[in-house]
Amino acid sequence: MNTLFAANWKMHKTAAEARQTAAELVGLVSGKLKAGREVMILPSFTALAPVAEALRGAANFLLGAQNFYPQKQGAFTGEVSPGMLLEAGASFALAGHSERRHVLGETDALVGTKTAFGLESGLGVILCVGEKIDERRAGELKSVLERQIRAGVRDVPRDIAPERLVLAYEPVWAIGTGEVAGPREILEAHAFVRSMLAEIFGASASAMRILYGGSVKPDNASEIIALDNVDGVLVGGASLKADEFSRIVLA
Ligand code: PGA
Repeated sequence: MNTLFAANWKMHKTAAEARQTAAELVGLVSGKLKAGREVMILPSFTALAPVAEALRGAANFLLGAQNFYPQKQGAFTGEVSPGMLLEAGASFALAGHSERRHVLGETDALVGTKTAFGLESGLGVILCVGEKIDERRAGELKSVLERQIRAGVRDVPRDIAPERLVLAYEPVWAIGTGEVAGPREILEAHAFVRSMLAEIFGASASAMRILYGGSVKPDNASEIIALDNVDGVLVGGASLKADEFSRIVLA
């Protein structure tokens, strides 16, 4: 299983800026990436095709999208279908990012519908889970993760190819705050996510990647990546500059 370094650009960068940053990143990383690593860029919808162009021919670079709607087509103003993303060159998409859950109001049930539909449509899906600070303080870490994971994979076929379903543990209190979860907190959460996946998917759970996200930076990336059950990182703020993200990817 390849270690995944995913750059979630959120609502940043015009298409031209995204293309330029992607091209810079390819220049900085190509030929230097350690074996067994892959890099994914998740730009906004309008930048997907230009970034796909910039990544063309770059070994171990993938394109992902940040969101999609779980229907093939129809009267869903403002939404984008998995088929449209695949056509633009994306092979993966996020589902259940905390900003979609907590800013845009997505429910556990919708995230579950999206995860299953995205996979069925041919996308790989990165299902994001994580607790808010008040939930952690109330001792609800495991119950929140269990609820989000069970609902998230509710309709996913139990024989899904394990490389197509990626989990991302992103404690909400560590996203964009500069506050990173400590090694003990990451180990505990990731071991719990792995055990849930094993209960649900059996042996193939060991080949599913679990990413950590939340204030990953060049100076903490290698320590985080080395932890048990951490198979990559999902990076927001520190992925926006090619130089900074290249130092995470090459760490
Ligand atoms: P951050 O964001 O790296 O800026 O904390 C991570 C994410 O939201 O995926």
